[in-house]
Amino acid sequence: ADEPLVLGIETSCDETGVGIVRGHTLLADAVASSVDEHARFGGVVPEVASRAHLEAMVPTIQRALKEAGVAASDLDGIAVTAGPGLAGALLVGVSAAKAYAYALGKPLYGVNHLASHICVDQLEHGPLPEPTMALLVSGGHSSLLLAPDITGDVRPLGSTIDDAAGEAFDKVARVLGLGFPGGPAIDRAAREGDPAAIRFPRGLTGSRDPIYDFSFSGLKTAVARWIESKRREGVEVPVADVSASFQEAVVDVLTRKAIRACKDNGVDHLMIGGGVAANTRLRSLAQERCEDAGILLRVPRPKLCTDNGAMVAALGAEMVARGRPSSTWDLPADSSLQV
Ligand code: KG4
Ligand code: ZN
Repeated sequence: ADEPLVLGIETSCDETGVGIVRGHTLLADAVASSVDEHARFGGVVPEVASRAHLEAMVPTIQRALKEAGVAASDLDGIAVTAGPGLAGALLVGVSAAKAYAYALGKPLYGVNHLASHICVDQLEHGPLPEPTMALLVSGGHSSLLLAPDITGDVRPLGSTIDDAAGEAFDKVARVLGLGFPGGPAIDRAAREGDPAAIRFPRGLTGSRDPIYDFSFSGLKTAVARWIESKRREGVEVPVADVSASFQEAVVDVLTRKAIRACKDNGVDHLMIGGGVAANTRLRSLAQERCEDAGILLRVPRPKLCTDNGAMVAALGAEMVARGRPSSTWDLPADSSLQV
């Protein structure tokens, strides 16, 4: 096949990811996570993450090459997350990508982390229609993006004005004593609970509020206060009901706004990505509401939704396929890179 063979490196947060794709075909997806090292701090510690990336980088690249069964010399390019993300963490990936690209004589492609969260869906469902509407929800971001061109023109329609969706999951899980990362724990606990048990607030859904922006900080505070009041009364906190009701408040707002964005912009399909896209209830409610609205839903499997190198490789391959210019050797790691 003459589809581009690209290796992608992702180190924007706590996952050292190296993926290899040929066009839209996934060949390897190696991930080393430092999540356990951060657990006792209740969140990602930047210095710990950078150090873990440094230790995991070369072995993870070697593992990916072995898994894909390709020689580094056959690559058509090396792609790397240039931002946004943790500065020190990004720097490890960017430096490694430059070193490998230079040593192998391959073009280097610096890519945007958010755009690659969208592009990864090509590995699951084939070519993305353009423009694409994307809802990206993770521990670091909650954004609605309209992408007329995934390799260069990705427009933010709205984002969170305070906490990211995943951050809200993590913080509520902490109050409930469910551990870190909180999303999967709340997802699990919620299965035994009633989503209508407690009516928690839906942020920024008033008629005068910004249509595409999100706010989860008020919700988080409301949940914490509710739990506190129960504890003060000496009543046992119904963890399953609180989890289900909190989760419902988050996914209700996310899906409502995403579908509104599709309708307003005449886009008939919606892509959901980022770690929170692994959420069972988000998937089912989005499916239900998209069907009602005549919108086609595309959500990659959970392993591709969380940070990984395959998504970076997927976007790199798309850039090669479209003949986009490669990056220069002074490519910076930009912690606040905009789409
Ligand atoms: O994309 P990701 O791996 O890393 C970035 O933040 O970029 O997302 C991690 C976030 C965490 O906040 C985690 O709690 C959340 O995604 N998450 C979930 C679920 N799985 C992971 N949130 C809700 N439900 C889940 N099943
Ligand atoms: Zn991410």
